[in-house]
Amino acid sequence: SDEARIADLLSRMTVEEKVGQLNQVNGGVLTGPSVANDPGAQGKIQLLKDGMVGSFLNVVGTEQTLATQKIAVEQTRLGIPLLFAFDVIHGYKTVFPIPLAEAASWDLAAAEKSASIAAKEASSAGLHWTFAPMMDMSREPRWGRVMEGSGEDPYLQGKFAAARVKGFQGNFDENHVLATIKHFAAYGAVEAGREYNTVDVSRYALWNYYLPSYKAAVDAGAATVMNSFNFVDGVPASGNDYLVNKVLRDKWGFDGMVVSDWASFGEMMNHGYSKDAEQAAIQAIMAGSDMDMEAGVTRTTLVKSVKDGVVPMAVLDEAVSRVLALKFKLGLFDNPYKYHDAAREKATLMADAHLAEARKAAGNTMTLLKNSDGVLPLNSPKNILVLGHLAESQDDVLDFWKGQGEHKYTVTILEGIKAKYPKANVTFIRSVSREGDFDASSVKEMKKAAKKADVIIATIGLFGDLAGEARSLSDVSPSDGQMEMLANAKATGKPVVVLVQAGRPMIMTDVVKDFNTVLYTWIGGTQHGHGVVDVLSGDVNPSAKTVMSFPVAMGQIPVYYNHYNGSRPHVDGNEGPEHFWVSRYRDIPNEPLYPFGYGLSYSSYEYSGLKISKSSINQNESVTVSVNIKNTSGVDGTEIVQLYIRDLVSQPVRPVKELKDFARVEIAAGKSKTVTFELPATKLSFFDQDGNVLLQKGAFKVFVGTNSRDVLAGDLELR
Ligand code: IFM
Repeated sequence: SDEARIADLLSRMTVEEKVGQLNQVNGGVLTGPSVANDPGAQGKIQLLKDGMVGSFLNVVGTEQTLATQKIAVEQTRLGIPLLFAFDVIHGYKTVFPIPLAEAASWDLAAAEKSASIAAKEASSAGLHWTFAPMMDMSREPRWGRVMEGSGEDPYLQGKFAAARVKGFQGNFDENHVLATIKHFAAYGAVEAGREYNTVDVSRYALWNYYLPSYKAAVDAGAATVMNSFNFVDGVPASGNDYLVNKVLRDKWGFDGMVVSDWASFGEMMNHGYSKDAEQAAIQAIMAGSDMDMEAGVTRTTLVKSVKDGVVPMAVLDEAVSRVLALKFKLGLFDNPYKYHDAAREKATLMADAHLAEARKAAGNTMTLLKNSDGVLPLNSPKNILVLGHLAESQDDVLDFWKGQGEHKYTVTILEGIKAKYPKANVTFIRSVSREGDFDASSVKEMKKAAKKADVIIATIGLFGDLAGEARSLSDVSPSDGQMEMLANAKATGKPVVVLVQAGRPMIMTDVVKDFNTVLYTWIGGTQHGHGVVDVLSGDVNPSAKTVMSFPVAMGQIPVYYNHYNGSRPHVDGNEGPEHFWVSRYRDIPNEPLYPFGYGLSYSSYEYSGLKISKSSINQNESVTVSVNIKNTSGVDGTEIVQLYIRDLVSQPVRPVKELKDFARVEIAAGKSKTVTFELPATKLSFFDQDGNVLLQKGAFKVFVGTNSRDVLAGDLELR
């Protein structure tokens, strides 16, 4: 058995070799062409030969991973194979839409599929392990990393996390990669959306809001977990015994391996939690964290701490066996080279089938915010004027987490338009730069081109590299220059389709005030341009619905649907002296511009006849909740139907709405469907601040609707 083989190996390992297995090193330099002449690369190879590397991150490609694996297997004393890890977040070479956009499709099967394609490509390039999925709950569009998650709802985030874990890991064969639950825990709560900033959340919020999605991924069988940079209750996550030992391992039964975030063991010194490297390494391993990514504190100090008896050998052995268990699970001891097959790599990367899936995925993520003049879909336009840098920029359809995606292989919006409408006369005028500055000299040309145009397609947003780690922004509004470009486009009198490209919700208030056709395209990856134009043309009927609320203004952030009622709630529109001493802004509404779950389609739907099968249930029972939905348009469509609850009186209090189920339902033009959900009483439960499940008797509301705001409501009692 693997256990027996691990025990045997441990019995033959020196303390140094054991500590070596807990060391993950950045091997980026090993991927370059001049490894032999690069002292940095040679230093890492020496470390490997000395038995001090258990895993490399950032060594990619069959050739380099194979060369490095050979050193581990053939030139170290025990020949223990390496684990190769890389951030494969939404694709390896074929890049899919960013995860936040993918979540807007509410399509779990599609997410599983894209993760499995990413895994297939990554594993063909010699990789065993990805640092994904990221499932940090967040309400912060200022935070550049919201692009990696699935939005502001814990239930939905958990569903996507589980789907991606399954897609990445499959059955742990050489076509898949190990997944990582990250960043554990509550990293999405960084104050003011500023990267690496403080997180200070209550235990009640931790259990009910932040932890459920990580738990869903543990239940889905994720093999590894990554510590977050932040502290929880004043204790850095990497050295947090409560989080790692007590919650993750003891309560949830996670038996996999925990890796630090980049240098996060060592950064416990910056937090002021560890006095030196030695203490940091002790705190990390004693808290249940295993592998030290790049801090080097484990490598340089842990041998001594073990030999001095400060860290028991049993604790070290347990951490090392978790690393070895992964290597056995992947079969690397039996065949260390099974992931390194150059012919397979060549045949796999950017295979036609992968590109076709990426295109489909991109189309499914396009979120239609407004189409009040019915300008979309575009009916065979003959003359098209395209504006804005983003329309023709291959660089910006990929974000910071593009894996090994290459800009030169991406499809821009301009290319997508030309491919879809080969006979149309397409004029492109940049008009705004990548940074969003307006070129006033473009106005004359714009006016001239607009004269013969049937439609203007204007692109605004944020350039691709502004989505990802260390990409926090204090303002997520379109630039003045982009607004100026739009104003000039509008002045031509021609219909304007505004396309917004960004890895997070932006402030769209001024745009939707002045423009009637707005499509949020997110960042669609390799096939972005095709995905956008599939929707513009109507070949794909948009169905996506946003998974983060769109704020009215910067000052409204954070704004989210699952908030609490508070002591003095306010309903927008209520004016007069009796609505003064209430929780409201004097200058903007309380409600977001677009609520969670919002998105339009070329179809229109009518909801009616909400039925709850019983008015009262006990704790072991379920109800069925059904609703009739009619597609009142002449276009076949897919509607994302959402079920929410509200626990009306509860100790502690519950939010005004909580998503509990959803369905993607195809409804043909003019037809109706009855959609039925099973709602078990267990879904009415929540956690206390210690993570105990509470299921309290009392009155609940049940809502079903097309988004979190527009719902039909019914009553249910738990007795
Ligand atoms: O996986 C990432 C993590 O999400 C942020 N810091 C760096 C890690 C490795 O690249």
